[in-house]
Amino acid sequence: MDKQELIKLAFEAREHSYSPYSGFCVGAALLTSGGKVYQGCNVENASYGAAICAERNAAMKAVYDGERRFEAIAICGYPRGGRPEDAGFAYPCGICRQFLREFCDPKQMKVYVARTPDDVLEATLEDMMPHSFGPEDLIGDVPGV
Ligand code: THU
Repeated sequence: MDKQELIKLAFEAREHSYSPYSGFCVGAALLTSGGKVYQGCNVENASYGAAICAERNAAMKAVYDGERRFEAIAICGYPRGGRPEDAGFAYPCGICRQFLREFCDPKQMKVYVARTPDDVLEATLEDMMPHSFGPEDLIGDVPGV
């Protein structure tokens, strides 16, 4: 699974977005160390605060499936009916950054924020969230419990 394939799967995942309130459709494709890919989209709710982001949707599916080590995530987001090239970069929110942090080495974890399939910001989770707090700080090295 290379970077461009993962990005393509994020754009595909965006098509599943349920976002009638913001109209902002987000897709994510998460690659685990087991080589599996989990797609997620944002799912909103009439009680606005109950919405979940695309990144956490994908991460939840992975963890449910027993995949607790993440390697990379591709994300894209732009308004329904819009064109990706007219939008900016849909960076992961702070809660999603922390959620992903639980299941990766932040220095290794790649985050691809794709404005379009050809205009991609590439960073590590460490770049996006330095000095983070993770499971090692509480329970040692392995997030296995
Ligand atoms: N959203 C995501 O799916 N991921 C993020 O990291 C940022 C925001 C969604 C949540 C909401 O449905 C919409 O984008 C507008 O905030």
